[in-house]
Amino acid sequence: MKKAGIILDKDFVIGDIDKRIYGSFIEHLGRAVYGGIYEPDHPKADELGFRKDVAELVKKLNVPIVRYPGGNFVSGFNWEDSVGPRDKRPKRLDLAWFTTETNEVGLHEFAEWAEMAGSDIMYAVNLGTRGPEQARDIVEYANHPSGSRFSDMRIANGRKDPFNIKLWCLGNEMDGPWQMGQKTAVEYGRTANEAAKMMKWVDPSIEVVACGSSSSEMPTFGSWEMEMLDLCYENVDYVSLHRYYENPTGDTPGFLARTMDMDGFIKSVAAICDAVKGKKHSKHVVNLSFDEWNVWYHSRQQDEEIWKQDKWNRALPLLEDIYNFEDALLAGSMLITLIRNADRVKVACLAQLVNVIAPIMTRNGGGAWAQTIYYPFMHASAFGRGKALNALVDSPVYACIDYDDVPYIDAAATMDDDGNVTVFAVNRDMKEDYEITIDLRSFGNMTISEHIIMHNDDVKAVNTEENPDNVVPVKGQGGTVNDGKAVIKVGPLSWNVIRFKKA
Ligand code: AHR
Repeated sequence: MKKAGIILDKDFVIGDIDKRIYGSFIEHLGRAVYGGIYEPDHPKADELGFRKDVAELVKKLNVPIVRYPGGNFVSGFNWEDSVGPRDKRPKRLDLAWFTTETNEVGLHEFAEWAEMAGSDIMYAVNLGTRGPEQARDIVEYANHPSGSRFSDMRIANGRKDPFNIKLWCLGNEMDGPWQMGQKTAVEYGRTANEAAKMMKWVDPSIEVVACGSSSSEMPTFGSWEMEMLDLCYENVDYVSLHRYYENPTGDTPGFLARTMDMDGFIKSVAAICDAVKGKKHSKHVVNLSFDEWNVWYHSRQQDEEIWKQDKWNRALPLLEDIYNFEDALLAGSMLITLIRNADRVKVACLAQLVNVIAPIMTRNGGGAWAQTIYYPFMHASAFGRGKALNALVDSPVYACIDYDDVPYIDAAATMDDDGNVTVFAVNRDMKEDYEITIDLRSFGNMTISEHIIMHNDDVKAVNTEENPDNVVPVKGQGGTVNDGKAVIKVGPLSWNVIRFKKA
């Protein structure tokens, strides 16, 4: 059996974990809204048309914030279309996803759903086809108490109290040629600055997220952040990062190493924020919002076929990735990466939540079930709260296509307000068991309260409506704690949650 070690110290803290790193995302895309959270004809729909079975699965994930209404969708969206009497709301062609948007669900309905699900809203404004004026208007509509054109419009539409949305995205992926109203870094930096100023003049309590690069693979990555931040630094609070990984060649070790890239991406964007801060002699700190992350590639071919046959229909079944076991391992490792960077990443959104590259799947008129990636997210969201600890991991390494030194054991640790410690660990080794020694001496007497593992002999194993429990977490075999050192065995290719409490 191979060996690895993790040293933890209660005083070696990376930072407080902002609960919003366990956020998610619902876009008007595919069956995320229509056929996902909302299906009025479904036998399990509530009186507002929201599926109760889906809401139950969402609630178990304990998602503190949900990004809405896009995504690429938002760059052609007129928020006014989605409020007011439903029979007067226009049907619009959505040029992001070649779908017809009916606007049956808009801000009021989504806010009802979010409240029921226990989530706040992170609202994206359209800086693609629209600009600062309409961004200001929607803040007034959502957050101003009363006595102005848009706040009174909200009241007339049935909502007396403001929605009080605290976190706003200044557009979406504005560097991408696929985006309606794509901009250069200079065009975007100026627009974002003016939008942020005006939005904050309406409601000074809000925070705003400027668009970073839509991926670290964009040719403009780095210069985009530098140039646009130079123009809006003092007025923005976060820069967004988006990243999706794929494994089209079936290279599991290479795929599981992709979080090395994610870590580098985070560190680079944080360094650029700080470089701009230095250049401006500023005291203001801009942090990171990793507001789209996941695996995304399984459905790409299928989407091309759908568009060939069925462009412009409502709620096309787009981006319906079916996630397998190795995807869950990478999702776990991505969560570990977010926890390890908790000092700078204050918001993160698993993209997305239902049906569209999502942990939760539904069938129209049928069941709802959890995909493989649901479980690492559920565990991290449940147990990864409090403080992120600096876990010093000593692990054998391997070489793969992109890196020479990938640790087989990828781990992060957290400590909650009661002093309970949780270690999240992925064993990337395809064959070997590992004996992990966790040094907990600074915490006093600790015992193992729980060990959860997730493993499947088949990396391509999936959950389906018929077989929803094919890949699920089970109780692990735990381990021993002697003289402040825990020794735990973790199997090959496994996701592990090891929880400690005071003895
Ligand atoms: O999450 C799916 C899409 O991915 C989003 O609409 C867009 O922002 C990104 O390219």
